[in-house]
Order: sequence, then C-alpha cells, then structure tokens
Amino acid sequence: MADLSRRNFSKTAGVVTAASYARILGANDRVQLGYIGVGNRGTQVHEAFLEHGDQITVALCDLRDDYMEHNAKLSRGSPKLYREYRKLLEDNQVQAVVIATPDHWHALQFIDACQAGKDVYVEKPLSLTVQEGRRMVDVAQETKRVTQVGIHRRSAKFLQEAVEVVRSGLLGPVTVCKGWHLQNEWPKGIGNPPDEKPVSEAEWDQWLGPAPKVPYNKNRTYYRFRWFYDYSGGQLTNFGVHYMDMLRWAIGKDAPTAVTAMGGKYAIQDNREIPDTLEALWEFEGGPLMVFSQYNANSAPGNLQGAEMEIRGTKGTMYIHSNRWEVIPERYTDLEVPVRSPLNRDAERSYRPSMRTSIEPLSGKGSASTAFHTRNFLDCVKSRARTNCDVLEGHRSTAATLIAKIALRLRAYLEWDSKAERFTNNAAANRYLGYQYRAPYKLG
Ligand SMILES: NC(=O)c1ccc[n+]([C@@H]2O[C@H](COP(=O)([O-])OP(=O)(O)OC[C@H]3O[C@@H](n4cnc5c(N)ncnc54)[C@H](O)[C@@H]3O)[C@@H](O)[C@H]2O)c1
Repeated sequence: MADLSRRNFSKTAGVVTAASYARILGANDRVQLGYIGVGNRGTQVHEAFLEHGDQITVALCDLRDDYMEHNAKLSRGSPKLYREYRKLLEDNQVQAVVIATPDHWHALQFIDACQAGKDVYVEKPLSLTVQEGRRMVDVAQETKRVTQVGIHRRSAKFLQEAVEVVRSGLLGPVTVCKGWHLQNEWPKGIGNPPDEKPVSEAEWDQWLGPAPKVPYNKNRTYYRFRWFYDYSGGQLTNFGVHYMDMLRWAIGKDAPTAVTAMGGKYAIQDNREIPDTLEALWEFEGGPLMVFSQYNANSAPGNLQGAEMEIRGTKGTMYIHSNRWEVIPERYTDLEVPVRSPLNRDAERSYRPSMRTSIEPLSGKGSASTAFHTRNFLDCVKSRARTNCDVLEGHRSTAATLIAKIALRLRAYLEWDSKAERFTNNAAANRYLGYQYRAPYKLG
C-alpha cells in the first residue's frame, strides 16, 4: 500500500487542476465521482448522490468486494473497482471523491485526494484529532479544492430558517444549548467477542492504516469501530458533532473557550472503550453554555418535547427535532425578583402575575435529507463556490467535540485558545491534539 510516498504520489496524480475543472464543467455536465468506503454510510451517501442526474459513479473503493458489488449495481453503470484508494486517486476519470471510511482514515485520504486534484465530500467527524483537522483545512486551501463535510443538516432549508430565527434575536440572548444522543443499549451493547485471527492479515492491516497494530477483534471493524478510541471519538464525536455544528451555526460562534466532560461505563458489560453514559459541557465567551448528553443505558426523552436539541433564550426556547422545530415563548417580567419577607407578602404576590410573553410561538418543518447536501456539493464543484459545510466549518465543529474527548479522558476542565488550537491551562492535554501514526504512514 505504502510503496508510493505522498510526495511522489502528488506529483504523478495531480493531473486535473481547479482551473481545468472550471473549464470542463458546465451546469448540465455530469460530475464524475469516485467513492472511497462504501459501507453503511458510504452507500447512503452514494444513494443520495444518485438522486441527482448530474453525477456519474466512475469508481468505487472498499476493502470488501460485496460492498463494492452492491454499490456497482446501485450505480446503474460500470464503475471501476479498487481495493486501494491511491489507485482510485490516480484514475483521471475521477473528478471528485466521496470519503466514508472510518474516522481514522479521513485525514490521510482527504489530503491525498486534495493533492491529487480531486474535490472532496468527506463524512463527519472530519478527523480523529485536532491536528489532523487543521492540516486538512490548510491542504484544501493550498490546493484550492471544493470540500463538503457530511454534516448534512447544513443543507436543510427548514434548519437554515431555524438558524435565521435564532440569529434574528427573537429568542433574546441565548444562554444554554443542548443536544442529546439517547439509545438504550443495555444489557448486551455490542457484545463481548474475543480477539481472534483475522481472515486476512493484509485486510486487517489495511483497515487499521495509521492506527496502532492491535489483535483483531471483530467489534473493532465494520460499523462498530465507533465504540473504540483508536478509530473514533465515540458518540461524543459521532453524534456530538451533528449537534455541536447545528447549535454553533445557530448562535454564530466559531469555538468554545472552555470544556469539561465526565462519564463512564456504568451499566453495559461489552468490550466498548467509550462510556455508555457521558455529559460534556462547553462554555462560549459571554455564553452560551453548550451541553451534550449521551445516555446509552436509558432513553427517556431529554426534554418534555422529546426534541434532539434545544436553544434556550431569555424570551423563548427553540426545540429542534429531526424534521421540525418550534419556538415556545418564555414568560418573564420587568419587575425585580422580590425580597421575600414575612412582614410583607404583597411584593411576592404581584411578581408571578406580572409575567408575560413578548413573542409568538413559531414553528417550521422540512426534511434534512442528505440529498440536499450532495446537491450543494455538486453545484459547488461546478461553480467553485464555498459549500454549506466546507472543511473549515467541519473542522471547527469536529475540533470542539475532540477537545471534549480529551477533557473526558483526562477528567479535566480545559481552557481552549481556538486561534492557536492549544489548551492554555493544562500542558499535558496538548499532547492529545495529535497522535503518532503507525509507520509508514505520515500526516502530509
Ligand atoms: N453523516 C452521517 O449522518 C453519518 C452516519 C453514519 C456514519 N457516518 C460516518 O461515515 C463514516 C463511515 O461509517 P460507517 O458507519 O459507514 O462504517 P462502515 O464500517 O460500515 O463503513 C466503512 C467502510 O470503509 C471501508 N474502509 C476501511 N478502510 C478503508 C480503506 N483504507 N480504503 C477503502 N475503504 C476502507 C470499510 O471496508 C467499510 O466498508 C464514519 O466516519 C462515520 O462517522 C456519518
């Protein structure tokens, strides 16, 4: 796999440039896509691209032949099949790639794709570490690539409207934002399979890529990798990045200034490494507080509305569900909170009755189908405009969840300088912003 160094590879494969794309592609032309990773999500994203007549699947890459054959059939064409993504990147037919491999592969494949002159749609979370994400942003800028991170809510019209409502100030100053991932996985969770000999050592090695070489365990691979830290930040980055991004987008702030998190494996006796229960808390300068709750041993709704997310302002609260949102007005008064005194109850008696609402209930609904996000990517590949969730936005949201993962693992309260992308109150925590790749892999 690694006989081509990145340097040589970039020279040989960087054939199609941004300028030549712009010349090649007109509004009615079909974008020639190559897919790297066509498992659970890769297939969903492939289907979401196939909804548009102006994409053509020219290449597929995966470690599993059955997944590639399934996707070749879906494509209604005859894409070339590759087991090695670098070969797909050498294919001049491929104009843009879709990366839906496990998180620990995103950075290398994204950077190689940019350097090979391909535009990139990459699944969330953007990266496994903050340093990887920063490098991905820099390389995309250097190579002038159009990028889209698969945080698909960004392209949902009803959520764009929700963001406008929050940013209009209707809710008043926003003090708290929350998101919940609730799924009761007790008692079995992902089970407890033993380590075993892989069917193919070569495939296991290729799946691991830059991650540490460890004995094969089937829970570490397909789909279930998200319960292990070598390949994922757990549900904190997996689901957390969707909520962090939505809420950060709504409040219009780039990055938190402090973070802490707690959690553990309290109830589920499987071989997962990540907690079954956790609470992460971020502070943004001047507010709001942001909270992500991951409860995997209980699934009672996080709020009375059963919403996935909520945004609490002084004048109203917005509840965000998967296909709708609503604003419920707050009641408040211009009176000061009274001093409760046994000698005079008048002041406290008039306080609550003076409360009123100042805004009307409001709601919106729609779909957050991934097809809107893939549409936006195809449009931007042609126009060279910025996508709805480019690598920089994806990095900001991913980095916020990654620093919470570090706080969780160190059981620490961490202050964050988002410009320098360093912790300022805990030097040891900075060590976890990157990791040493397994040879011969290098972060380019
Ligand atoms: N946007 C969303 O809502 C959403 C939903 C689910 C998953 N995801 C993301 O999609 C990514 C993939 O998750 P999944 O659930 O599809 O996992 P999966 O295990 O089902 O699929 C990953 C695929 O990548 C392939 N792969 C691994 N290493 C490879 C390599 N070196 N070259 C080529 N292919 C390789 C595997 O063979 C597998 O088929 C993750 O980053 C995950 O967070 C996003």
